[in-house]
Amino acid sequence: MIRTLTAVFSILAVIALISGISTADEKKENKYTTKKFMQAVKTGGLHTKVIKGEATEAERKLFVAYVKALPANKPPKGAPESWKKLTEILVKATEAHLAGKEDSAEALTKAMNCKVCHTPHKVYPPKT
Ligand code: HEC
Repeated sequence: MIRTLTAVFSILAVIALISGISTADEKKENKYTTKKFMQAVKTGGLHTKVIKGEATEAERKLFVAYVKALPANKPPKGAPESWKKLTEILVKATEAHLAGKEDSAEALTKAMNCKVCHTPHKVYPPKT
């Protein structure tokens, strides 16, 4: 119980921190890297749970923390304007979905489209 509370509070603190100083903080490495987000998306289907409304409170908070960290994270490739646009659409779609807005599940599904973001911003390992 205490551990859960501690975890919730530290996540809340991080969210507050990120939303307060999102872009000013580029140099400092945060724990919500794009890579870690992607691993949670792939192995745990974190976004699917959130979209379907099946995520636990902790999972929802984790998703929000990852999403909010994205705009300030640097993608391995691609134009900064494109990255900013894609990640801010995702932030907005996440907020709308958690606020229970109509059609927000579709919007969030679209904003989480793997290929739309990977094509400009993910470096694919060279084929051997
Ligand atoms: C808003 C942009 C964006 C969206 C949406 C997105 N990705 Fe990614 N993804 C990235 C970027 C950028 C990288 C490269 C991260 C790096 O190397 O630092 C990446 C890397 C990955 C990786 C490799 C992680 C690793 O360990 O190197 C996987 C797996 C992945 N994404 C899965 C997915 C899946 C599955 C979806 C869709 C459900 C998705 N991603 C949607 C931006 C995105």
